[in-house]
Amino acid sequence: MMSTVKEILQTMDYGTAPEAKDAVTAWLAKHQPGFRHYIGGAFASPIDGQFFESHNPADGAVIARIAQGTKGDVDRAVAAARDAFPAWSKTSGETRAKYLYAIARHVQKRERFLAVLESLDNGKPIRESRDIDIPLVARHFYHHAGWAALLDTEFPGMGAVGVCGQIIPWNFPLLMLAWKVAPALAAGNTVVLKPAEYTPLTALALAEICDEVGLPKGVFNIVTGDGETGAAIVNHPDVDKIAFTGSTEVGREIRKATAGSGKKLTLELGGKSPFIVFDDADLDSAVEGVVDAIWFNQGQVCCAGSRLLVQEAVAERLYDKLKRRMETLRVGDPLDKSIDIGAIVAKVQLDRITKLVEQGCREGATCWQPSSPMPTKGWFFPPTLFTNVEPASTIAQVEIFGPVLAGTTFRTPDEAAALANNSAYGLSASVWSENIDRCLDLAARIKAGVIWINGTNLFDAAAGFGGYRESGFGREGGREGMIEYLAPAKKKSAKEPAKTKLSAEPTASAFEGVPSLDRTAKLFIGGKQARPDSGYSYSVLDAKGNSIGQAGLGNRKDIRNAVEAASKATGWTALSGHARAQVLYFLAENLSARADEFASSLTAMTGAAKKAARAEVDAAVSRIIHYAAWADKYDGRVHYTKARHVTLAMPEAWGTMAVSCPDETPLLGFISLVIPAIAMGNRVIATPAPLHPLSVTDFYQVLETSDVPDGVVNIVTGERDLLAKTLAEHDEIACHWYFGGSDGVALVERGSAGNLKATWCEAGARDWFSAEAQGEAFLRHATQIKNIWVPYGE
Ligand code: NAI
Repeated sequence: MMSTVKEILQTMDYGTAPEAKDAVTAWLAKHQPGFRHYIGGAFASPIDGQFFESHNPADGAVIARIAQGTKGDVDRAVAAARDAFPAWSKTSGETRAKYLYAIARHVQKRERFLAVLESLDNGKPIRESRDIDIPLVARHFYHHAGWAALLDTEFPGMGAVGVCGQIIPWNFPLLMLAWKVAPALAAGNTVVLKPAEYTPLTALALAEICDEVGLPKGVFNIVTGDGETGAAIVNHPDVDKIAFTGSTEVGREIRKATAGSGKKLTLELGGKSPFIVFDDADLDSAVEGVVDAIWFNQGQVCCAGSRLLVQEAVAERLYDKLKRRMETLRVGDPLDKSIDIGAIVAKVQLDRITKLVEQGCREGATCWQPSSPMPTKGWFFPPTLFTNVEPASTIAQVEIFGPVLAGTTFRTPDEAAALANNSAYGLSASVWSENIDRCLDLAARIKAGVIWINGTNLFDAAAGFGGYRESGFGREGGREGMIEYLAPAKKKSAKEPAKTKLSAEPTASAFEGVPSLDRTAKLFIGGKQARPDSGYSYSVLDAKGNSIGQAGLGNRKDIRNAVEAASKATGWTALSGHARAQVLYFLAENLSARADEFASSLTAMTGAAKKAARAEVDAAVSRIIHYAAWADKYDGRVHYTKARHVTLAMPEAWGTMAVSCPDETPLLGFISLVIPAIAMGNRVIATPAPLHPLSVTDFYQVLETSDVPDGVVNIVTGERDLLAKTLAEHDEIACHWYFGGSDGVALVERGSAGNLKATWCEAGARDWFSAEAQGEAFLRHATQIKNIWVPYGE
């Protein structure tokens, strides 16, 4: 019997509103024999003839058979992408823009079809796929059509990277494709994409769109399959860049697998993002925020606000309001337009969520779930609220990737910031308060790539998205994302540094009371000269092989001390750019005053002619002045994203950085790397050129006389690669620059997988006098971008 409007308004009970799925069912029926790969502009059967099944999470039914990609299939796809690369990368930006624009138009024309297909394959509510996912897909292609057209003027000297392997997850299948494919194609790269095994269908529908718009063959290829197929792409020698979104665990494996291969890498990994509610927040808005933070897409969102941190005074009130709101959330058929929470993507994910929730109960947290009815078939999980969650417990630390919120209380802003940062991840955070001062203070203190003020889960193609720490590195979206798909057009020299083995001898000064003829350079740690822990030094030779002094053989312990000193020097990072610039100008002045002395030392070490040595010192002075000039000018942007939002893209220092310096022009090489790093507010542990360390070890005197605070620059001499390994594995170092040999590059990239630190590694010699040896690229690598979304108006 039909209810009257009056009755409906009283009960707010309404019926189902299913979205029509005929067009999608017909399309699936057409492909009933099985979906094939998309390679070189045509659908291609898997070499081994194997297929796997894709399910509808709402009822567990098989909806499609999908080709299982093997190494052979990946080989074919990479070869097609390689063949297409020369022509596509040379196509004008404007022409590439037209293709991207056409793809965007076609996506819009098929919006309803793609939304239904996405909901059917993934289980997400149609309201979300229709109103969020698919419109954003179109937006990304439009936005990047613009970048293709602007490439030459906005990114001078940069060109396409080559063949990009892109591996995406199942939570936003077509949107993740768009995030990766649009910038890659805009920049002139060609692509081999692997969709997630649970959700390959919208990617295959997009392949049909690429066909319709006449995208040149081989520019975009798809190989479907599971993790093994993904690994085949990662390990393929003819792939130039890997872009991955997925679990931190797999991201770490990919970091190790690509170490030393020369492949460019971006990783967008997991999160355990805080959702912070202060006592002066608008609690009703905050409740709606929580709904969007953790029940959007069933909580299967890398940046889900899964940790609710609420100020003690309002905790009970917020929990009550939240529970009342949870009672109104409808869980059910994703294709029903009145559904709030759909199905979990796969049985294994449902089991994983169930186990973690059981663990939360066992660990003593209080679990609450609403009484609303649950579907009787399919893979569903109710919205779940945990309160009294211990910050160190499993459900507060592990990414659950389900509709499960872990609530903890705090008293002061300091405690809120500490709890927010008490995570290995750093993807996003939401801060709720009517006090903008407090919001921005927290935004600055939280270590995360995206901060939403009085909002959550806001996305736009114009803003960069990506994490700090174990949430990965690199950004997707906007200008920040474009740079990840570009490389300097000029190739570097491949000349490897000579392999050396430094021989240990007791440090001269270790012989108590025995006067030493040679001078022994000490390490410089925390603003003090320090003897190497090993008690050993090595001879530094001149160009003729005669000993001209000794330098300490630094070891693991020295690095540990240096990291500790650097970690304490946070005052440097907090200074204004202007204040840092003043110190750098003073540094340049003091080096300049001693130019002759430093030039003689270079001549003695390297055998460089007097004039050349002096030129090196002069160039080092100019370089310091260059970065002093930049210190208060390398600032951020305001991105134009959603209306009535200011989206601030702010470059932030990494914190503690490691710098392994090159052999060539030892003073200038050191200055060219260390100075931009500290200009941006980092604290550095630098290892100078092993064979020619003395002009750097002497530099400590210049640092001391120039008011560089203790711990900002720490110098540890010794074997570059041995020290680099320790630095790469150190968890407190957020970023490592390595300029040396290819073996060293491999070990730094592999070693960095532990805390997923960002690396910038180059094997082979650079000309440190050249224009490319200074400028924006160094500052970009010395910082990471934090996007802060600030809404305004009512
Ligand atoms: P996953 O990381 O295994 O899968 C993501 C993608 O990587 C898929 O396309 C998969 O086929 C591929 N893949 C798997 N192993 C690979 C390998 N060795 N080399 C190359 N590619 C590989 O994630 P999974 O197993 O689907 O989900 C497990 C957990 O990971 C989730 O519960 C969630 O916590 C997290 N996750 C996080 C995502 C994010 O957006 N940050 C997305 C998906 C999962």
